[in-house]
Amino acid sequence: MIQKTEPADKLAGTLVMPPDKSISHRSALFAALSSDKSIIENYSDAADPQSTLSCLRQLGVPVQKDGNRVVIEGVGRDGFKKPKSPLDCGNSGTTMRLLSGILAGAGIECELIGDESLSARTMKRIIDPLRQMGCSIEGRDQKFAPLKIGPNTGVKAMRYPLPIASAQLKSCVLLAGLFGEEPTEVVEMVPSRDHTERLLNLKSESYGTGKIIRSSKSDRLPAQSYVVPGDFSAAAFWLVAGSIYPEAELKLQKVGINPSRTGAYHILEDMGADFSKSNNGFAGREPVADIRIKSAQLSPIKLDPKLIPNCIDELPVLMVAMCFASGKSVISGAEELRHKETDRLSAMAEILSSAGAEIELQKDGMIIYGDPDFTPRPSRFNSYHDHRMAMAAAVLSIRSSGICEIEGAECTSISYPEFWTHLHKLTQS
Ligand code: S3P
Repeated sequence: MIQKTEPADKLAGTLVMPPDKSISHRSALFAALSSDKSIIENYSDAADPQSTLSCLRQLGVPVQKDGNRVVIEGVGRDGFKKPKSPLDCGNSGTTMRLLSGILAGAGIECELIGDESLSARTMKRIIDPLRQMGCSIEGRDQKFAPLKIGPNTGVKAMRYPLPIASAQLKSCVLLAGLFGEEPTEVVEMVPSRDHTERLLNLKSESYGTGKIIRSSKSDRLPAQSYVVPGDFSAAAFWLVAGSIYPEAELKLQKVGINPSRTGAYHILEDMGADFSKSNNGFAGREPVADIRIKSAQLSPIKLDPKLIPNCIDELPVLMVAMCFASGKSVISGAEELRHKETDRLSAMAEILSSAGAEIELQKDGMIIYGDPDFTPRPSRFNSYHDHRMAMAAAVLSIRSSGICEIEGAECTSISYPEFWTHLHKLTQS
């Protein structure tokens, strides 16, 4: 589908953010692992979390869905059934990597497959540690999906210093660790999102400037009955849109503000954004708030590479913000962006250049020469079938002088099915 974006008449209004994708996945996976019944409210309708639910059903987990309410009768660590056909993770890296940790730990014979994009993303990062733990897992060329998992003779505990700051990798190892007699220890020196440790209530302690997180068979696995918060990664598109569009005023309701996710909020504030929070509260173990956004004059920024995991999914739209800042911004240490649903560094370089932005693509980042008067050239943008590319291009287009087109725009359904409706509601009078 090609989505046309008309020049915006205004940017104003209130939105409820879609349910968080990362927390939706985890709520369902951890509910299945528990031996109790979980009632999850506000579960995401987006395609990725739905892939997690269909995989769980194939594994014999009773999952009932009524709108955004999902009821899961937990089967416990030993209750998964061998599926009759391959488990299709679709486009979802989180489904494949977290589920592999659980199934390799449990020793369930199965195959995990994904779409073209997921089948091209490296799974070596999870295959290697899972094998070290004594799990049986094979990949195509020892690196890619399809993944074949088999029985094991017991999960061996290990101390694992994370070689990459990745929450998916951290979670995969900790989930396999839940099947070991002795504690598996994951050493995390650069923090990434902590939903797994938080929602499973795993033990952790400081370790130098980082922390050690532990999991083992003796961890009691709690039911997951709570309301999933709104997705901060979805909110980030509006944080940028509201900052760069003149006289904008937006309010986003019920946004998850877990500090391990909100790097982009603070980076934009450091650039001069005008945000405020209200109605602070909790959804289960996760903090939430409403966020108000007003337009602002943005200053350029040099991002600290240590902050990258804290804003990994928001970097594409942060690049858009940097195009409107008054000078040179620098992103480095972001090589991980090349391993997402598409190579997001190259894709963003192409999107920004075709709009006329002055940028330099680097191996691990980008230099962006911003200009507060930048007017993106009306262009046809390629989304590369990556939801975050499509939405970042849409935010860029609201400052364009003419109609822009976004190819493959239906991919926003991966994380934010209402995105185009929300954009229309906020921009057209
Ligand atoms: C996710 C972690 C991040 C993020 C992805 C979701 C998660 O990936 O990019 O969209 O839910 O754990 P990495 O942990 O691999 O960086």
